[in-house]
Amino acid sequence: MKKGLELGDIEENKTITRNLNSSTRAHFYPDEDFIKNNRIIIDLTYILNPANGRQFISPDELDKISPLVEEKHRKLKNNQGDCLDNGIPMLGWLNLPDEITKSDLDDIVAAAGELSEKIDVYLSLGIGGSYLGIEATVKALTHSYFNRLPRDKRGGAPEIYFLGQNLDPDFLRDTLDMIKGKRVGINVISKSGTTAETAIAFRIVRKLLESWAGGKAADFIFATTDKTRGALKKLADSKGYKTFIVPDNIGGRYSVLSDVGLVGLAMAGIDIHELAAGFREMKKITDKSEFWHNPAKLHTAIRHLAFQKGKKIEVVATNSTSIYQLTRWMEQLFPESEGHKGNGLWVSPSMYSEKLHANGQMVQQGERNMIETFIRLRESDNDIQIPPDSENLDGLNYLSDNNRGMNYINQRVIDGPAYAHFKGGVPNMTIDIPRRNAFNIGQFYFMMELSVALSGYLAGHNPFIQPGVEDYKKAMFSMLGKPGMEENLKAINEDIAAVKPVVI
Ligand code: PA5
Repeated sequence: MKKGLELGDIEENKTITRNLNSSTRAHFYPDEDFIKNNRIIIDLTYILNPANGRQFISPDELDKISPLVEEKHRKLKNNQGDCLDNGIPMLGWLNLPDEITKSDLDDIVAAAGELSEKIDVYLSLGIGGSYLGIEATVKALTHSYFNRLPRDKRGGAPEIYFLGQNLDPDFLRDTLDMIKGKRVGINVISKSGTTAETAIAFRIVRKLLESWAGGKAADFIFATTDKTRGALKKLADSKGYKTFIVPDNIGGRYSVLSDVGLVGLAMAGIDIHELAAGFREMKKITDKSEFWHNPAKLHTAIRHLAFQKGKKIEVVATNSTSIYQLTRWMEQLFPESEGHKGNGLWVSPSMYSEKLHANGQMVQQGERNMIETFIRLRESDNDIQIPPDSENLDGLNYLSDNNRGMNYINQRVIDGPAYAHFKGGVPNMTIDIPRRNAFNIGQFYFMMELSVALSGYLAGHNPFIQPGVEDYKKAMFSMLGKPGMEENLKAINEDIAAVKPVVI
């Protein structure tokens, strides 16, 4: 017997080789062939055809709503409509793909590289829009066990951990076990600079870092925040941290292409020039294409009509564990932007086929109050053949005999449910991401940002603010005894005293 398992004729992992190559392609400009081979496709077959004789949305209905969608797009582009946050039109993300320059990106790569050389571990601290896009992109483009690979197989990147996205002491403590004894760099990301989850995590890891690095601690800390205001900006200035800027006119969940996302992505060795090219490409497509060839406009119109027709839930399902994190990013982008004034679809991220053995039952036969959006990865990095077996006790030789690899099988994880759920009364669309590269992820982000902004405008509310989030903060901080919130705590206690406790 050998010392341990060997992989026989299973090929080298292409996720690793792809990433090692991409970090050398520093200044990415896609040619026509590349663009043609990396087009995001949207399939509306199971939206626009009647299921069991019942039409859900007709092409006519889409034609009818298209002028309204076009009008909302014009408004967005002209800085008009309900888009203000504290008097600022929050539309910076719309032009960012064209405005961001090669030298902006080069500077970020250089700064990340400089810190990377000094550290073993990079901690990215943030929550919501200051967190999800970074993690989603890292997961989408790197190895599933990134931190456990030797550093050279990570393209020279440090290990990457995310903190500040919850207040769970066990999670924080477990993460500390992973970084103990290592040289740690921190990027604390908070536009407001006052977000409790992020600030608490920062205070704890900062103290640890200061006791390791002493007077040199500031060399290991980046702060990404408002350019002039906020507690974090003040702290960063007083300690001398290198700062990155969250632009005034870009809200958290629309900020992946700003310093918020790019610093961490450059740290992970992701080609941010290619990512920016993807944003640019989708901006071009959505600016130029007429309604029926415009993925963001079709996506927004269908979801808008679905809500008007009584749908409440959007299952967003994928066949790829790497792409799954993008559905979690959507779970934040859409509800935080759409869930206003009684509007909005509940976004339910689902990894298929795992979830087909769970909520799949409900999708097939539960209340018909949902639509489904498949985010399909067309071509995984790796394909693995099903080996033949002379005994065929598991009955799988029909796959090996026909040379069916796992990538082929995994496509049917979309095709099968899409058909069955359509027949079961759940209209669904499929968005195909051709393959895992930064260009496609950039395209996808811009498409979804535009779709949700249009969606807010169609529904008649501001998709760039999140006033509802303040209510939980007010209650939680009052209960924690935050100075200045005494009156609020008194009111809360009175409210609570007036309801009958039911604790069983
Ligand atoms: O999308 C948003 O605006 C929010 O999700 C914020 O990103 C999140 O609340 C974190 O805020 P901040 O960056 O101010 O800490």
